[in-house]
Amino acid sequence: MPGNARATAGIPFGNGHRPLNMRDDRTESIEGHAAIVTRDAGNKLWGMTAPEPNLVLVDVLSGPAPRAAGTAEPFLYPDDLGAVRGDGVFETLLVRDGHLCNTRRHEDRFLSSARMLQLPAPDLEVWREAARIALDEWAGREGSSGDASMRWVYSRGRESTGLPTGYIMVSPAAGIGDVRERGVRVMLAERGFTLDHGNRAPWALIGAKTLSYAANMAALRYAKENDFDDVIFVSAEGNLLEGPTSTLVLVRGRELVTPNPGEGVLAGTTQAALFDIAAQRGWTCTTAQLTPQELYDADAVWLVSSVRIAVRVRSVDGTELSAPGADAEREFRDLCEEALGAE
Ligand SMILES: Cc1ncc(COP(=O)(O)O)c(C=O)c1O
Repeated sequence: MPGNARATAGIPFGNGHRPLNMRDDRTESIEGHAAIVTRDAGNKLWGMTAPEPNLVLVDVLSGPAPRAAGTAEPFLYPDDLGAVRGDGVFETLLVRDGHLCNTRRHEDRFLSSARMLQLPAPDLEVWREAARIALDEWAGREGSSGDASMRWVYSRGRESTGLPTGYIMVSPAAGIGDVRERGVRVMLAERGFTLDHGNRAPWALIGAKTLSYAANMAALRYAKENDFDDVIFVSAEGNLLEGPTSTLVLVRGRELVTPNPGEGVLAGTTQAALFDIAAQRGWTCTTAQLTPQELYDADAVWLVSSVRIAVRVRSVDGTELSAPGADAEREFRDLCEEALGAE
């Protein structure tokens, strides 16, 4: 029976009372993935385990040394505080041609996020070893050319044991090329806090890259439902902040400007590397409080981040922004590419 057709036709997965005596587990192909599915006697799909996605996984912390783990078996315990409370930190790094990009800045932010959450300080030697294993596994699977995404995930771990959980995943940077080329139509969205919120409420963990991204993802879904591609958050005072997964950079003549990193935004590793290289090439690089009007006045507006790298903002709330000329666009993209090579 065509598993694909039934799965995509909105048949319920898993939740609900499963009639155990009618189980029939077998492997099917669901949306291109091999999956062990459970159907009842009426061929209704009740559960799906063990899809084999195209990713590699390295268990960093549960044994004496990091080791590759299978991705077809369950990995997290149900009481992992990363899963049930978003209580943990992560980093997403670009893998390019078999190498990690901008590693030192990611490591620094990983340490500082862990410090802000009062997690035990991660041992970077262990995480580097895990990353090497993950890169090898990925190269064995996909070859070592092109781009991929590597995530370091470090949570407070099981509620029952108090031992932290750590793993590294590599997955394809799917669909990224398109958005890099095409750019995005952005809507401005209220963030709901003032610029000094991080200082006044350290428990809000502004500036830590925590696993609690549900609100950011909700903002992106809201944007997509309303025919936008992305979001720029705005503070309660009306100042520009960041995208849900990116840092805002404005180009004004030979100046690059980004919102103040201490004020309601995550300090971006891509923006930092870009500003370093640009300053060496004679650009003026500044941080400032910015207003929405400055988006319309800029020569170009970009959202930068580790895997998408640089995506141009084509319009804001339906108003087209000025497009840089081909040379100016190339120059900016070249600076970003050069920044990727940063240690
Ligand atoms: C909220 C937020 N701001 C900025 C960024 C950009 O950071 P980076 O350049 O280090 O990828 C990200 C990355 O995911 C992010 O989630």
